[in-house]
Amino acid sequence: MSKISAFLVLLSSGLGLASKCPPSFSIPKSEAVDHVNPLIGNGGDTPNGSGGMIPSTAPPFAMTRWVAQTHQNYVSVTPYNHTATTIHGFQGTHQPAIWMGESGQVVVVPGTGSVKSKFEDRGLRFSDDTQIISPSYYRVELDTGDGGRILAEQSATSRVGHLRFTFPTEQSAYVLLEATRPTPITYIPTNITYPLGSIAVDPARREITGSNSERQDWIITPTSIAQNASNFKGYFCARFDTPFAKFGVIQNGSEIAGEKTGKGSLLSAYARFPVGTGKVNVRVGVSFISVDQARRNLDAEIANGVALEETARRTRTAWAEKLDRIQLEGASEADKEVFYTAFFHTLQYPYEQDEGGRYYSGYDNRVHQGKSYTGYSIWDTFRGEWAWLILFAPERIPSMITSMLQDYKEGGWLPMWKNIVETNIMVGTHADSLIAEAVVKGIKGFDTDLAWEAAYKDATVPPKNDGNTRYADREENVDYEVRAGLSSVYTENGWVADDVHSESASRTLDYAYDDYALYRLAAALGKPKDIVNTLRDRAMAAPFTLFNNATGFMEARNANGSWAGPDAGWTEGDKWAYTFDVVHDIPSLAAYRGGNASFVQSLDDHFDGGHNDHTNEPSHHIPYLYALAGAASKTQERVREIAKANYNNTPIGLSGNEDCGQMSAWYLFSALGFYPVNPASGDYVVGSPFFDKATIHLPGHTKPLVITSAGAPNAPYVRGLSIDGKEVKSTVISHKQIATGGNLQFEMSKEPQTWGGTEMLSYWMNFVERQKVL
Ligand SMILES: *[C@@H]1O[C@H](CO)[C@@H](O)[C@H](O)[C@H]1NC(C)=O
Ligand SMILES: *[C@@H]1O[C@H](CO)[C@@H](O)[C@H](O)[C@H]1NC(C)=O
Ligand SMILES: *[C@@H]1O[C@H](CO)[C@@H](O)[C@H](O)[C@H]1NC(C)=O
Ligand SMILES: *[C@@H]1O[C@H](CO)[C@@H](O)[C@H](O)[C@H]1NC(C)=O
Ligand SMILES: *[C@@H]1O[C@H](CO)[C@@H](O)[C@H](O)[C@H]1NC(C)=O
Ligand SMILES: *[C@@H]1O[C@H](CO)[C@@H](O)[C@H](O)[C@H]1NC(C)=O
Ligand SMILES: *[C@@H]1O[C@H](CO)[C@@H](O)[C@H](O)[C@H]1NC(C)=O
Ligand SMILES: *[C@@H]1O[C@H](CO)[C@@H](O)[C@H](O)[C@H]1NC(C)=O
Repeated sequence: MSKISAFLVLLSSGLGLASKCPPSFSIPKSEAVDHVNPLIGNGGDTPNGSGGMIPSTAPPFAMTRWVAQTHQNYVSVTPYNHTATTIHGFQGTHQPAIWMGESGQVVVVPGTGSVKSKFEDRGLRFSDDTQIISPSYYRVELDTGDGGRILAEQSATSRVGHLRFTFPTEQSAYVLLEATRPTPITYIPTNITYPLGSIAVDPARREITGSNSERQDWIITPTSIAQNASNFKGYFCARFDTPFAKFGVIQNGSEIAGEKTGKGSLLSAYARFPVGTGKVNVRVGVSFISVDQARRNLDAEIANGVALEETARRTRTAWAEKLDRIQLEGASEADKEVFYTAFFHTLQYPYEQDEGGRYYSGYDNRVHQGKSYTGYSIWDTFRGEWAWLILFAPERIPSMITSMLQDYKEGGWLPMWKNIVETNIMVGTHADSLIAEAVVKGIKGFDTDLAWEAAYKDATVPPKNDGNTRYADREENVDYEVRAGLSSVYTENGWVADDVHSESASRTLDYAYDDYALYRLAAALGKPKDIVNTLRDRAMAAPFTLFNNATGFMEARNANGSWAGPDAGWTEGDKWAYTFDVVHDIPSLAAYRGGNASFVQSLDDHFDGGHNDHTNEPSHHIPYLYALAGAASKTQERVREIAKANYNNTPIGLSGNEDCGQMSAWYLFSALGFYPVNPASGDYVVGSPFFDKATIHLPGHTKPLVITSAGAPNAPYVRGLSIDGKEVKSTVISHKQIATGGNLQFEMSKEPQTWGGTEMLSYWMNFVERQKVL
């Protein structure tokens, strides 16, 4: 039986976690949480075809996610791969995405007989049908290799993993904590200088504590913070409920006789329990500040004596509080699995990095007061994920922005891709968009003056050595990349020069959008006219400096203005996708492509020619562009096709990297019937709702948002739309119209309709008006 079918059996028989708990133990009912399938997106045949998601247990936005370890994770390898047959421990991981590195992990390894510390020796076979996988509880039976079985169970709170092992009573059992392991970077087996760490056993407290300096992305840290960030450490405090019969410290596979502590590489420690012990509970507090703080986190989140069931119940309740906010009618069991798993995926990143009211900053290597978040994949998440968070986790938006402002204060710049600290991954300074969108949508509770200062710096201050640094993808030994190329021709002529900077054409289009976001921010904050107008003019002009009239496509240009060739200067996309990447000025783009009819034809050519690549973000908004050019029915058709082809309820159910929630945010918005094509505008473009009805309880609002679209599962076309009884003729609706609840009533049809075709005029007029704002 595959893991998926085992999961479905559990669902259909209504067992879930309940059957595994003492009968007296009640778990909160949640249809939504029962439909989460954490294996969705775990893998394809190659890391590239993988969503990179792991079946981890943790509450929303948790600092540490706990998962059965099947692999030594690294950039391109996740700690859990569903095809594996052995489990090598249970890992508290901070790896936020498959193409990013791990930081400060800890691994808990159960075993019997002689202690096996090395990854390759300690794997225990398991069979799929012994697994129960849910967001709050995981269990598996491990084969000890000599006829015994270990039942391993796992749950977690944000900063504490809770594990319970039931050992065969006739064998001598142990639990090992791994502090440091070999890393693929600069790994010389005979002389390991990184990562180093420490370990200590305290049998009186029944604790094993330790730390390591592993931060796999250290190699791409901007140079000005590299020194400070090199002090980063992950700490842990593991406390057992069972006295130790024996214990020891192990280095590189051998016990260091008589030692309670150790320092260095390849370090672990174990506690052995008396034969006959049976159940052992271990709670593992994790910290980025210190071992003491890890201990405080442990005591604060899971007190002594708390049962694993109670931990699982609390974490399940936390998920239910979010996921139960949407009820669907007309969705199949499979649809619900895809939908609620997507919802689960969108509420994981960025993740909490503060502990007890303080946080460690790798930017300045200090501990500060306040909240902090990390795991910001902003080139991906500014598109739809952030809009989703604004709707479903608005209580966190002010501190997520404040955290970015702290990064600015401590490191000099807003984040691009923060994984503990900045990594310079991808292009553009889309934190500008996150801030602008929040302000445009009326989010309060952060320092808008500081936000403006930080974002305006992005638009006006080039990176260090801009003139002679290429800022290639993952280039080492360079400083903050931010708007590489800003100092050259971009400011004067409008494009980033391809012969000077990498990914120049993608940068040009991204910077133009970021300028648009800043223009909206400046206007909302009442900044001086000349600043507002300069940003707006740059945003509107820059994209079209790349438009090659001879080919009808965007094309990178060199410093001297010559064309660099159709395939030059793109990142994670090509000329097809990027020519549609002017989300803030589709009317002008349509005009450049010869008017509406010819623009619609170019969209057809894009899709019919197989150029749309939904596995990567530059394609995500493209199906929605039809609806801005009078061909809404084609948006409705394409969105349905894309959802079907790129999402399903299997481990390969995400065609591309989840990218910290963006793949799923696209699905969720699309399933509800609208998508934020131009996030900083505060507008959504209407698509085609997938189900008969969605009832949404937005946090902070008593009136639900009810989306009715009777017959939608078999009728993809929209014949009409009304909001609170008022007819809507345009395919563009605003955040304001939905953000406080209301009734969105779609009339669906099996045949293409002209709705939204001829009535776009008001949108276009409104658009032109908006450009004149000041
Ligand atoms: C999972 O493991 C299989 C078999 O080793 C491998 O082919 C595949 O690439 C892995 N998937 C991921 C996402 O790492
Ligand atoms: C997978 O992606 C990596 C990084 O983008 C790339 O170097 C590699 O060629 C890709 N491999 C396949 C099989 O597509
Ligand atoms: C670890 O042990 C192996 C032999 O088991 C040895 O070859 C290697 O040099 C040792 N590494 C370190 C860092 O001590
Ligand atoms: C181990 O590597 C470090 C760093 O490269 C070097 O300084 C040291 O001399 C090496 N030690 C041995 C024993 O080779
Ligand atoms: C490290 O952080 C301190 C502040 O704690 C700052 O003064 C210093 O410039 C930083 N050093 C580097 C190399 O960034
Ligand atoms: C393309 O054509 C437009 C309108 O005819 C013109 O304004 C623009 O300068 C041309 N672009 C380039 C790069 O030649
Ligand atoms: C313009 O720049 C490109 C790339 O650096 C170069 O190949 C080309 O010769 C230059 N053209 C002129 C007219 O200078
Ligand atoms: C596109 O169509 C809209 C109305 O549907 C119209 O207002 C607009 O002028 C057209 N634009 C172009 C460039 O043809």
